[in-house]
Amino acid sequence: MKQLQEKILTEGKVLSESVLKVDSFLNHQIDPALMQAIGEEFASRFADEGITKILTIESSGIAPAVMAGLVLGVPVVFARKRKSLTLVDDLYTASVHSFTKNETNDISVSKAFIGSEDVVLVMDDFLANGQAALGLVDIVEQADAALSGIGIVIEKGFQTGGNLLRGRGIRVESLAIVSSLEHGKVEFLEEEMV
Ligand code: G4P
Ligand code: NA
Ligand code: NA
Repeated sequence: MKQLQEKILTEGKVLSESVLKVDSFLNHQIDPALMQAIGEEFASRFADEGITKILTIESSGIAPAVMAGLVLGVPVVFARKRKSLTLVDDLYTASVHSFTKNETNDISVSKAFIGSEDVVLVMDDFLANGQAALGLVDIVEQADAALSGIGIVIEKGFQTGGNLLRGRGIRVESLAIVSSLEHGKVEFLEEEMV
């Protein structure tokens, strides 16, 4: 998605060879017009899938997911990372290990909001090692729902998540695939430059 790539090139900051900071439009401040365009792009890529629900994870997945949900006309559920006072039982839970942060956390979703009748689009802001996405897929499986695919705003193609998920036969659509962050420079997988 050209508009997203241009935003990454103008506002993204390369923090290291593996970390891209996009706080000015996705992870801290949010650009609503860009989020709307992102939502439209996901909705068009997954238009014929009969999606009934989007599942993402707090916090940075929520903005793009809500915009996609608006265009597709379906509710958006976000998995919680912390235990909630009002979210006590009837939960699907999955364990998510972050290699980046070297910690494992449980994520949870109320059974009230995903069921066997659902066709689910999983979404997230970043795809790195794919552990968050796998946790969300695990929850879709626990719910006996159908998984339509995974929509990612920025995939780091040099990390393992993309291969891990696609290797399981899951359709992964990433709006920008970063192939390298070496020498402080963002490079994209060129086939995405359509
Ligand atoms: P994984 O799920 O793909 O295995 O990713 P990982 O554990 O490495 O990611 C941990 C957190 O860091 C996630 O956010 C993820 O979105 C984010 N992240 C990973 N790589 C990058 C990067 O290069 N740039 C940025 N900006 N974020 C990255 P989180 O802790 O769940 O936070 P939130 O922002 O969703 O609240
Ligand atoms: Na995220
Ligand atoms: Na994030």
